[in-house]
Amino acid sequence: VLAPEKPGFLSGINVVISAGPTREPLDPVRYITNRSSGKMGYALASAALSAGANVTLVSGPVNLAVPAGAKLIAVETALQMYDAVMMHTQVADIYIGAAAVADYRPQQLADGKIKKAGDTSTIALVKNPDIIAAVAGLQAKPLVVGFAAETDDLENYAKHKLQSKNLDLIAANWVGQAEGGFESDRNALQVFWPGGQQILPMTDKHTLAAQLLKLIAEKLHEKNP
Ligand code: CTP
Ligand code: CA
Repeated sequence: VLAPEKPGFLSGINVVISAGPTREPLDPVRYITNRSSGKMGYALASAALSAGANVTLVSGPVNLAVPAGAKLIAVETALQMYDAVMMHTQVADIYIGAAAVADYRPQQLADGKIKKAGDTSTIALVKNPDIIAAVAGLQAKPLVVGFAAETDDLENYAKHKLQSKNLDLIAANWVGQAEGGFESDRNALQVFWPGGQQILPMTDKHTLAAQLLKLIAEKLHEKNP
């Protein structure tokens, strides 16, 4: 594996990136979802392509152009994303989980439109599988990079996710702030790995993606010199 100073530093490297939200249907006309534009995941796909990687983009529904050269696997639900990611990470060197996966899905998918009845209503939900934890549990585990969007106590939550999910790197960002986050073209990241951390200050998501990818490539280089 080439050091990240070299042009084409990811040439021949297989990168799988999940991006966007998942969509969990309730009936034929309704779903629950997460806020996510997919911009960060798509920017990472572009940056990885520019560095010479083979890129598979497993994407939930977003309004973005697929970067030229990426292999798109379009999915809707977390279960579909799980299947696609597990299939494509068998031969991956790097997995980046940038998707906003719905933690739960409705327990029942109604065949017909659910009719309104009563003044209150409850939806039973069941937990979705943790996709990134499953990738990190593979025998031939790729380098696994997660994201964490937090509204409070970012450092503690991010470090806990790094450890509990057995990730190699986690990129955390504040959400619900004046700048950055979901729909924004700009963001800042605080990146943690076992034994270190680095701040990537507020900038446009394309610059940020290129900076994060260099950090990821350094970790891959350390793993496979
Ligand atoms: N993730 C995943 N599968 C899930 C949930 C999360 O792969 N079912 C991944 C995300 O893509 C992200 C990382 O796990 O890379 C952290 O997601 P986050 O929602 O912050 O963490 P959770 O473990 O779901 O914890 P919580 O939502 O309670 O903060
Ligand atoms: Ca979650």
